[in-house]
Amino acid sequence: MSTALANPWAGRFSETMTASLVAFNTGLPLESRLFESDIDGTHAHIEMLRSVGLLQSAEHAALARALDEIRQEWRHGDIKLQVELEDIHMNLEALLVKKVGELGKKTHTARSRNDQQATAQRIFFMRSTRELANAIDIFQRALLEHCQQYPNLVMPSYTHLQRAEFTYYAHWLATYVVMLERDHSRFIDALARADQSPLGACASTGTSLPIDRQYSAGLLGFREPTLHSIDSVSDRDYLVEFGAHAANLMIHLSRLSEEIISFTSQEFGFLVLADGYCTGSSIMPQKKNPDVPELVRGKSASVIGNAMTLMTLLKGLPLGYNKDLQEDKTAWFAALDNCMSSLGILTELVRSMKPVSEKMRLAAQGGHIIATEYANYLVNKGLPFREAHRIVGELVKLADSRQLDISRLPYTDFAAASALFTEDIRAVTVDDMVTRKNSYGSCGGQALGVLLSQLQSLLDAHQPR
Ligand code: ARG
Repeated sequence: MSTALANPWAGRFSETMTASLVAFNTGLPLESRLFESDIDGTHAHIEMLRSVGLLQSAEHAALARALDEIRQEWRHGDIKLQVELEDIHMNLEALLVKKVGELGKKTHTARSRNDQQATAQRIFFMRSTRELANAIDIFQRALLEHCQQYPNLVMPSYTHLQRAEFTYYAHWLATYVVMLERDHSRFIDALARADQSPLGACASTGTSLPIDRQYSAGLLGFREPTLHSIDSVSDRDYLVEFGAHAANLMIHLSRLSEEIISFTSQEFGFLVLADGYCTGSSIMPQKKNPDVPELVRGKSASVIGNAMTLMTLLKGLPLGYNKDLQEDKTAWFAALDNCMSSLGILTELVRSMKPVSEKMRLAAQGGHIIATEYANYLVNKGLPFREAHRIVGELVKLADSRQLDISRLPYTDFAAASALFTEDIRAVTVDDMVTRKNSYGSCGGQALGVLLSQLQSLLDAHQPR
């Protein structure tokens, strides 16, 4: 087999490639993931060649059969790609030649490895990015189900990591469903822009042979062919978009991870993770470590770096294909794999985690968290908010001096602070007020119910993939 294409440019060269060049030059270890996409692209290409008369029907049939056999052998692990053949494209051609002889070489009619690589990448991109969008959808559903399961557990909400206000646990967690909805839509948008076939752009300026790019694009399920042949082989914008969206996604997963790590600590104690998703310590018997969210937080650093790699890779490249582009897969696949594995395990983690309602409630009843509601009480009685803020601030100071929560001060202290405070201030409690925060998007029982059903509708509108 290797004799057929072992050195396809032998005509021009008087020396063979050095072993060091073969090792340095090959992209196979990563590129082999695109092998089946290259088979798909080749199938469409030969069918198009047949349709325009560049292949006879019998030739097409023999090549199509050989491609199917190669796919089966690949799936059974019976094919070992040869590094001497540099890339998947030369390997595929050599395998075809081995099966059907000289006819195999006709597959390279009106095609270069440049558009062949670009096509295999787009095919793989469309499939893997849809899978990623689907993994986001599944994670969102796990989060939303968890919210629906625990709709009325009161917890503090934080600003500056200081207890700020009170909310419901489901309202806190639903934030991530909303954030992930933006991530989901970004990948869907990127898919729409990438939905074009570069096949037939050839080396860079197209071909004089009578090919039909619309037909091959349609066969591959692309919306249309790419518009410009040079752009077709130079463009990796879709990977830059992917890198940026992946970084954004991982930033969101990392922020959730950070909160899960905090909330499972003994200092908070709001959440308990299932033992099966935690590790212990080799020396401290009491330890139960949240390795999963810590790793996700760590992996976000790699994915942010991958986005930077993709941008830097392109910024100085002249038009046309340049071998630098082989490096695109390093960053792209690393980002893809880290996003997929992080989403997968976080989905399991969320399905198995348990909130600790007593701890959250206790925290929501301390830290003077009701203070803003006392100020609002005065506002409802006509006082300007700034003045109300000052009066309640003084009550906080008083409570602090007695080491009490503001809600524990006797009514007489309220009455002394402002004549507008009447006995009904006692009815202003966390439990009561949390249900009443019902302006659009707020945490109150009614607003939260609306939010959760809106989120359900958004998820149900995701296209099944
Ligand atoms: N391994 C190459 C890549 O990943 C395939 C394209 C090769 N094209 C070429 N003209 N050498 O970009």
